[in-house]
Amino acid sequence: MQIAVTGGTGTLGREVVAELAGRGHSVRVLSRSAPQHRVDLSTGEGLAAALDGVDAVVDAANGKPGRDARAVLVDGTRRLLEAGAAAGVGHHVGVSVVGAERVPWGYYKVKVAQEGVVRAGAMPWSIVRATQFHPLLAGVFARAARARLLPGPTFPLQPVDPREVAAAIADAVEAGPSQGTSDFAGPERRTVRELARTWREQTGRQAVLVPLALPGAAGRALRAGGLTDPDASIGRTTFAQWLTEGRQPSGAL
Ligand SMILES: NC(=O)c1ccc[n+]([C@@H]2O[C@H](COP(=O)([O-])OP(=O)(O)OC[C@H]3O[C@@H](n4cnc5c(N)ncnc54)[C@H](OP(=O)(O)O)[C@@H]3O)[C@@H](O)[C@H]2O)c1
Repeated sequence: MQIAVTGGTGTLGREVVAELAGRGHSVRVLSRSAPQHRVDLSTGEGLAAALDGVDAVVDAANGKPGRDARAVLVDGTRRLLEAGAAAGVGHHVGVSVVGAERVPWGYYKVKVAQEGVVRAGAMPWSIVRATQFHPLLAGVFARAARARLLPGPTFPLQPVDPREVAAAIADAVEAGPSQGTSDFAGPERRTVRELARTWREQTGRQAVLVPLALPGAAGRALRAGGLTDPDASIGRTTFAQWLTEGRQPSGAL
């Protein structure tokens, strides 16, 4: 298949590109900095040309929490779907976050709105939802540790290796439009505090764990395991194993 990956230069997108290419597909990388297929989802620039002759789109783009997130994820997805439908693309694979509808934070509200745009759009679709990526957590801990602190809230996460999410996305591409949503999560459900301890042990960095109380509805939802899913498809690589490989943290949220 000819497959376009928007955000194909990002943390997840580059793994999706590698996975699809490894399976023998022809892959186009679309982003603002992509060398061949430069597109901007917040304006629609470059989309028509980049989608010409494409069979399926994986949308792995992301925007920084705030205004940028809505411009890329909600309005940008609408532009992408319209351009895809006009180009005759047969399948849109969206990427979302496990439990986004359960945790009332701004970024997650944007992800729920983005899912709605995909469901209501003109293109046959599938959505793969993932839990937090190992490089995201490693990035959060590394930034906090610069001030010799580590956030230690006690809500659980189920972090996942983005390479395994990429394989689940490639499966979804090959299966064709499901008009449905599937969850993919990591093998362990652990509190952020436990994950921070693991990060500190494995990196040898000096930092003090700081208890963090999260108030309100979002705090309650997080403590209830809102970002985890025991019924999801489960990856194999734990956070500790991923850290052992010495892979790079992500700078983005
Ligand atoms: N990070 C996590 O833990 C996590 C967990 C679950 C689900 N997800 C979801 O996975 C997806 C990818 O997230 P990620 O963390 O891999 O993102 P990321 O590393 O921040 O990468 C974002 C990608 O989007 C591109 N991009 C940004 N603005 C753009 C624009 N205006 N037009 C076109 N491309 C643009 C970037 O490339 P340029 O800068 O070159 O444009 C980059 O390739 C998102 O849907 C996210 O919600 C993430």
